[in-house]
Amino acid sequence: MDENVLTPRPETEQIIDEVLSLAGKPILPGVKPEKPALNAKGLKILDVGTGSGCITITLKKELEEADIYAVDISEKALEIAKKNAKNLNATITIKKSYLLNNIDFTPDIIVANLPYVDKDWDWLDKESLKEDPGIALYAEDHGLKLIKELIDTANSKYLILEADPSQHQEIINYATSKYQHQKTNGFVLVFSKC
Ligand SMILES: C[S@@+](CC[C@H](N)C(=O)[O-])C[C@H]1O[C@@H](n2cnc3c(N)ncnc32)[C@H](O)[C@@H]1O
Repeated sequence: MDENVLTPRPETEQIIDEVLSLAGKPILPGVKPEKPALNAKGLKILDVGTGSGCITITLKKELEEADIYAVDISEKALEIAKKNAKNLNATITIKKSYLLNNIDFTPDIIVANLPYVDKDWDWLDKESLKEDPGIALYAEDHGLKLIKELIDTANSKYLILEADPSQHQEIINYATSKYQHQKTNGFVLVFSKC
């Protein structure tokens, strides 16, 4: 745990499962994967809003043959992600970027657990969030500002987003002319490019 990054939450693990499923990697030992949509070798995966690096580092460990990239807007988060990647011997390209602004290639898969909490939710348990930095939690436009901006600028084959289930339908509707909703897995939405 570190005050400069979000403490990883269990709901985010579904992002990993969905990427592994697209790349044809078994999620559970002994379970035969479905026919993969993508070839893991040379697969370009970008994690937007990497924080501690928990998603990217896990992905690199599971998919050694893929090229993994990560960005964050927070210098402090980037320092921690780089340190964690080094300690865990995971080769990842990590750099500072506001969403995709400093990305000059087209990833096959974009994954993002961006801030999606709306400060005005009356059911919000602020006490349970007090250890997490505000930049990792809150977004304007009812929590959807950054997710919508990412949809506007993304061009990847697949887009995998975490959001509160109460926001899912609005995100699916917003993405509709660009990305087709494939699947919902807990807090996670999987889209493919139209
Ligand atoms: C909810 S945390 C997720 C951290 C980590 N990926 C995880 O799942 O535990 C969101 C992260 O997005 C970053 N972030 C916020 N605004 C951003 C932006 N405009 N561009 C890139 N990253 C941003 C925050 O600094 C934070 O690290």
